[in-house]
Amino acid sequence: MKQSGNVRMEGVVKQHGSFTALHGLDLEIRPGEFFALLGPSGSGKTTTLRILAGLESVNAGRVLLDNADVTHAEPGARDVAMVFQSYALYPHMTVAENIGFPLKMIGTPIAARSAAVQDAAAKVGIAHLLSRRPGQLSGGQQQRCALARAIVRQPRLFLLDEPLSNLDAKLRIETRAELRRLQRSLGVTMVYVTHDQEEAMTVADRMAVFMEGRVVQVGTPKSIFQRPASAAVASFIGTPPMNMLPARLEAGMVEVAGARLPVAEAAGKSGAVTLGVRPGDLRIAPDGMPATVEFIEDLGDSAVVLLQLAGQQVKLRAGNAQALTEGQPVFLRFDPAAAHLFDSASGLRL
Ligand SMILES: Nc1ncnc2c1ncn2[C@@H]1O[C@H](COP(=O)(O)OP(=O)(O)OP(=O)(O)O)[C@@H](O)[C@H]1O
Ligand SMILES: [Mg+2]
Repeated sequence: MKQSGNVRMEGVVKQHGSFTALHGLDLEIRPGEFFALLGPSGSGKTTTLRILAGLESVNAGRVLLDNADVTHAEPGARDVAMVFQSYALYPHMTVAENIGFPLKMIGTPIAARSAAVQDAAAKVGIAHLLSRRPGQLSGGQQQRCALARAIVRQPRLFLLDEPLSNLDAKLRIETRAELRRLQRSLGVTMVYVTHDQEEAMTVADRMAVFMEGRVVQVGTPKSIFQRPASAAVASFIGTPPMNMLPARLEAGMVEVAGARLPVAEAAGKSGAVTLGVRPGDLRIAPDGMPATVEFIEDLGDSAVVLLQLAGQQVKLRAGNAQALTEGQPVFLRFDPAAAHLFDSASGLRL
């Protein structure tokens, strides 16, 4: 398949009446990338995807595919395929007819169409279901049918909007791994919308984090997890979410909950900060921040401990439930390098 599929959005503004859904979006997606658009509900992910597909006009800015300006090009002229959350299969057509439909629309002869349908169905593992109708398929099989219909035309760009959200948890995890393999084997660019941060973390080469119609951070899942650009991104990425505590920074130490603890970052800075520590980076120690054990969620192979710390609930993830009891007073510490510091006014990383 084609190795192209470079996407550039420059200053894209989208308004619905007086409401601004996208505030001047800049985004670059490289050929062959599995790129996730991640963000809370209403942050502009679907809008962005629909603009790439040509299903939505823009109020300002440009969209480029492989360096060609397609801002005003019709969907059919863009050589992209979109898979919707609802799959949008035609109920009266067989699976084969559904998959072959995009080829029929462009007048592909029946023999070539049939071969392409077979090939696409085989790639997603539904070659044995071609004579059924969508109503006779499971949710996962319908999802594969929609995927096969998208790959049959060999587009340069795939746009997927929460394609797994109708599947149960186990199937979702299996299918996302398959999707990843499929994308690799096709060598095609995939833009994948999800509000599930774990899903984005596990499948994406890179991702853009959306908040309120803006891209607030772009990078590999790992780099964003390790260095979230703001307290909002830090709270959104990671399960359970990062603990956020009001603190004072001075001379490489944070003063938090009456304790003074060293931090590695932000040397030379001082003032009011928000201290972020991931649950997996908190540990119980002989001294440090005084806290009280509130509740222990024993997950079998690990445990999440809920604690009260300076009138606030924090979470600690441990390898096991340890010898803790509810109501027990303890002290908490963290590695200096595990502290994330954010400006308490702007929320931006120091
Ligand atoms: N046709 C429309 N008219 C008015 N507002 C709209 C319209 N379409 C979308 N919006 C608004 O634009 C914002 C972004 O919507 P969008 O569908 O892109 O969000 P999303 O990030 O995909 O959210 P979700 O995760 O819930 O699917 C939302 O606040 C939504 O209400
Ligand atoms: Mg959406």
